[in-house]
Amino acid sequence: MKALNFLFPILIVFAVVVRATEDYDEKNLTCEKLFNVSSCSDCQKLIFHDIKQDENDCPAPIRFIKEVVKVFKESGKEKAEPYNTTYFKKGLESYCDQPFNCDPRTAEKYWTEIEHVCAKELSYKVDWSVDPSKIDRNTFLVFGTLLSYYFGIPANHAYCYKSSNSDEFCMAKIYENMVEYVKKATNEDPKPVVSLDYKYIFKSDGTKIPIPKKLHCDEKCYETIAEMYKSWIKHYKLSPKVAENIFGSEDGFIKYLSCKADDKRDVIRRASDSYLSPLRLHSLIN
Ligand SMILES: *[C@@H]1O[C@H](CO)[C@@H](O)[C@H](O)[C@H]1NC(C)=O
Ligand SMILES: *[C@@H]1O[C@H](CO)[C@@H](O)[C@H](O)[C@H]1NC(C)=O
Ligand SMILES: *[C@@H]1O[C@H](CO)[C@@H](O)[C@H](O)[C@H]1NC(C)=O
Repeated sequence: MKALNFLFPILIVFAVVVRATEDYDEKNLTCEKLFNVSSCSDCQKLIFHDIKQDENDCPAPIRFIKEVVKVFKESGKEKAEPYNTTYFKKGLESYCDQPFNCDPRTAEKYWTEIEHVCAKELSYKVDWSVDPSKIDRNTFLVFGTLLSYYFGIPANHAYCYKSSNSDEFCMAKIYENMVEYVKKATNEDPKPVVSLDYKYIFKSDGTKIPIPKKLHCDEKCYETIAEMYKSWIKHYKLSPKVAENIFGSEDGFIKYLSCKADDKRDVIRRASDSYLSPLRLHSLIN
């Protein structure tokens, strides 16, 4: 299944830090500049408005990304620093210091309007496993903005969640794990990218490296966060066609978010490696 991962804002943040030079001045940004077209369609105009609007805090992922971009700009660095997690952490702290005003009805008004006005743009099946730089900007911004509104409320909870025995944000830990893994797996590639379904890393030379599910499933707080999204999906629905293009089937998506025993660092397997092959263990647990 080729679902867009709910952690996609994290991957975008990563891309921002990696590609620091692809900078644009937000104040002077126009719809045409954002989409790189000579004249914006109705859908593009709406998306541009919804990305820029200050009327409510609903699109949590967009707001969070803006915070990280701000922190990065303030640092005065122009060089890419893919493996420096400072910007992410500072951006997250600054995001979570701010109030969040959004009720589900308001968020729903925005995402249903996007579904309506951008019906054509949302009707394409997108392969979220590819190198994200191969996904065209229009598709990326329309789906990304829709999801930022649809998942805004659970995302806000997820970003600012700390488990009771920790003073670090769970998302910061997930991010650190990912960065650490990318660093090792690519031998510190200067410009790595991660697919938006969080399944592959692409090195600068195009080599594709899989990301094991263990990477986030090992992090205890991940499941708490995933639960926030799962319960949201059960209560609030996108139109079936759009949902299918983003998640595949809803059941499939929920399964994809869930960590099975096999995805976790499990003591049993390590202790009994010599007795049980992973395959056998798998069949015992399930
Ligand atoms: C933004 O636009 C204003 C007025 O159009 C202009 O004075 C300013 O220099 C622009 N800023 C940048 C960074 O281009
Ligand atoms: C903008 O569009 C033009 C023409 O389609 C293209 O050559 C250019 O690379 C695009 N710029 C960006 C930043 O995508
Ligand atoms: C990461 O960036 C911050 C802010 O620019 C800087 O203070 C810090 O030294 C950097 N860390 C590393 C390991 O380069």
